[in-house]
Amino acid sequence: MDQIVIQGGRALHGCIESSGAKNAALPLLAASILADGPVVYHRIPHLMDITTMMTLLSWQGSDITYDDQHRLHIDSRPASKPQAPYELVKTMRASSLVLGPLVARFGRARVSLPGGCAIGARPIDLHLMGLERMGAVVRMEHGDVVVEAPQGLLGAQIDFPQVTVTGTENLMMAAVLAKGTTILENAAREPEVVNLADALRQLGADIEGDGSSRVVVRGVERISGGDIHVIADRIETATYLAAGLITGGDVTVTDTDPTLLETFLEKIVEAGGNVECDEHRIRCYTSNRLRACDIQTAPHPGFPTDLQAQFMALMCIAEGNSVIAETIFENRFMHVQELCRMGADIHLDGHLATVHGVKKLSAAQVMATDLRASASLVLAGLAATGETTISRVYHIDRGYERIEEKLGKLGACIERRHENSDSGIRGVMLYA
Ligand code: UD1
Repeated sequence: MDQIVIQGGRALHGCIESSGAKNAALPLLAASILADGPVVYHRIPHLMDITTMMTLLSWQGSDITYDDQHRLHIDSRPASKPQAPYELVKTMRASSLVLGPLVARFGRARVSLPGGCAIGARPIDLHLMGLERMGAVVRMEHGDVVVEAPQGLLGAQIDFPQVTVTGTENLMMAAVLAKGTTILENAAREPEVVNLADALRQLGADIEGDGSSRVVVRGVERISGGDIHVIADRIETATYLAAGLITGGDVTVTDTDPTLLETFLEKIVEAGGNVECDEHRIRCYTSNRLRACDIQTAPHPGFPTDLQAQFMALMCIAEGNSVIAETIFENRFMHVQELCRMGADIHLDGHLATVHGVKKLSAAQVMATDLRASASLVLAGLAATGETTISRVYHIDRGYERIEEKLGKLGACIERRHENSDSGIRGVMLYA
């Protein structure tokens, strides 16, 4: 298993490019199942979760090639297995995104119940509720969800009792080839949902209202292949900006989009950071210690839960006390214990974390527990004096492309080591 080792305490300076968004790319790849022709994807990030989705689509029979320009070609016309087996989906909850497209195209699907981040129960009951509304019959069998709609899906009115991002995406895709009109109420408004709707429209789907909480999908007979572009990864962008801020440095992320990160950037300004933006570029810097400020995670356009852990790392060394409320997931504070091992002072009470800012963090051996929690430990390690070792970094590799190379470009002293249980450490790659 790999470890990331950081010699902290260096201010980061410079400019790096954002990658394509993982959370946009995953539903876009699943949408290829609906297309009656080859689809070419641009700006697909090189990540474990993407590899998992490619393996799944290829197992179903799709033809896939990935070139070294971050372009992915998928022809799903040969796909013949409307299934997603446990072995392929256990590592990634987002594999349930194939469910809607498979039922829409084949009239049936068998998908193993997903695993993924250890951040709460994370059921898919709302995805299934929506498919039932569209006329499908759903049953559980040996840990799989079996969904059948032999006469095809029918347009329906679907009211989500709670905002769900992949639930909105799954049902939007299911509705594209359904008979009649589907209305999704209380739909997710995340930019990744809009990216999916834009792409589907480009292929011939009839969708409107994406980006608002009422999405209307009028079913069409078929959609074609075409070219699809993935938006910038707003979570990755914000993580690198936070890396600059937590080290008292000055970092610019290019090929990104400030409108995707308005709430986060407002909070950075409130905390005393400097933010400069133009259309595709964001610069953040600070010469003073940041001030404490409170956040509450919420569906878009609220503060993203996927940035809660990174923002907490910033608040660990800010001046004053901040309260961080996590309202999306019930168990998303696994980084707290690890941050405390690095000298942070955080008090947990249910979904609230009170962070008492300290002047300095100190390096430690810590363990990555989920994707975004891992990012917060990297940030803390960059700020801490001494050598921080983060183990179980496969979590980071699910969502951050070449993280040690990108941070190395900004001046971080960070390396990846291949840990070996019998003989200690081998195979060092150094970026500094
Ligand atoms: C997506 C993102 C993830 C992000 C999350 C919230 C992808 C691939 N992942 O995850 O990075 O953290 O949005 O912004 O895009 N829920 C139910 N029943 C359901 C579905 C969801 O109870 O059927 C609950 C979840 O347990 C959670 C909340 O709704 O408490 C929101 O989850 P959801 O928006 O569905 O998260 P994901 O789409 O899985």
